[in-house]
Amino acid sequence: MKLPYAEPYRIKTVEMIRRSTPEERKTWIREAKYNLFNLKSDAVFIDLLTDSGTNAMSDKQWAEIMTGDESYAGARSYFKLKERVEEILGIPYFLPTHQGRAAENVLFSALLKEGDIVPGNAHFDTTKGHIEFRKAKAVDCTIDEAFDTTVSHPFKGNIDLDKLEKVLKSYDREQIPLVILTVTCNSAGGQPVSMKNIRDTAALCRRYNIPLFFDAARFAENAYFIKVREEGYNKKTIKEIVREMFSHVDGFTMSAKKDAIANIGGMVGFRDEELKKKVSVFSIMFEGYLTYGGLAGRDLGALAQGLDESTEFDYLESRIGQVAYLGEQCKKRGVPVQEPFGGHAIFVDAKRFFPHIPQTEYIAQLLAVELYIEGGVRGVEIGTLLADRDPETGKDRYPKLELLRLAIPRRVYTNNHMDYTATALGNVFERRESIKKGLKIVNQAPILRHFTVELERL
Ligand code: F0G
Repeated sequence: MKLPYAEPYRIKTVEMIRRSTPEERKTWIREAKYNLFNLKSDAVFIDLLTDSGTNAMSDKQWAEIMTGDESYAGARSYFKLKERVEEILGIPYFLPTHQGRAAENVLFSALLKEGDIVPGNAHFDTTKGHIEFRKAKAVDCTIDEAFDTTVSHPFKGNIDLDKLEKVLKSYDREQIPLVILTVTCNSAGGQPVSMKNIRDTAALCRRYNIPLFFDAARFAENAYFIKVREEGYNKKTIKEIVREMFSHVDGFTMSAKKDAIANIGGMVGFRDEELKKKVSVFSIMFEGYLTYGGLAGRDLGALAQGLDESTEFDYLESRIGQVAYLGEQCKKRGVPVQEPFGGHAIFVDAKRFFPHIPQTEYIAQLLAVELYIEGGVRGVEIGTLLADRDPETGKDRYPKLELLRLAIPRRVYTNNHMDYTATALGNVFERRESIKKGLKIVNQAPILRHFTVELERL
């Protein structure tokens, strides 16, 4: 008999989590103004809000926490990380930052000015926020297939090269300071970008003399998909694929809270020493000295160790396999999910879930609320709340996809938790027609509103 799959790790420490009743949860979510960010974590049973900073570190990472060097300048832990960045990513210069958006902040402070254009593949919301905050514009050039959850395509994160070239042609070189390729593409559903697409995008950018940067938050998961889906990569190791991916770009920003399997951290990396010097000014101003960038020495060590662990095939197979397991369990219950499944999360298609409720009633948020009440599972809306208002008209922007994201923290939950989640979602799906109305906003912030928005049931 063929042996079944089993995780390549065992559990050394456990954390108790609290169950609650639907009655308790109805009260808590009302008090939270139907915004799941406002819930106390103790009110959540299974927390799939994000895979960011919620990972379980390994014994070796914890060892780094204990041996971290807390020197203000030139700490040992910094040099350990520098070595790993050179060895694993092949990038010679980098600055640590306290998280991903901080990397965006320092990089864009040096590169962007009002009126600039930053093309990319469905920029993440903090990236877009930092671009729009500087009165520049993020232009989405993702392939059309990404916006239909029923279409199967192995690399839905790909950039449409024709769309990109059209943008590059329409503006002066000085107006486009960089192109950003997000790997994997979170906003398109954790979907990967192929090596061919990375290579072709890089060639196009070179032709127009525009730097190409990765948003590398989930670079290792992207490398896994290249290995198992793209011709010619099956025999290569993840580390070889990662090196090849980064060989095509001029630099990167990274939230290390994802694929560095850490709880905090970020980086901005460069090939060009001059650009590093330019960005260093802002790094010192916003983050701290160049060798710690808003982090403790121990965090730098944990991050260095995490980069090594996340670029191993066995780890990625178990990680992405668990996400796919949840996807399969949802499908079995008829729940409409995006396919192929993403690397870090399962995305439920709220338009197909609630076809009888209009998108203007924040249906993905409604689904998040209903799932929470049903099972104490916390997901996050990737839809109209997140898309926010058009900065010019102030009106809601309706994205093509209205999704509920169930993001799986790395090495944290078992497949029993996945079964529980799929069953809770299946129960909501069964009673979907009894849910007749959505939500309305009663209070919202001027930018990045989804974190603090207050809602009411209609
Ligand atoms: N880029 C991508 C692709 C991201 O997914 C995130 C964060 C960031 C940048 C910003 O990094 O949080 O460290 O400042 N994504 C989290 C999420 C918040 O839940 O998807 P950060």
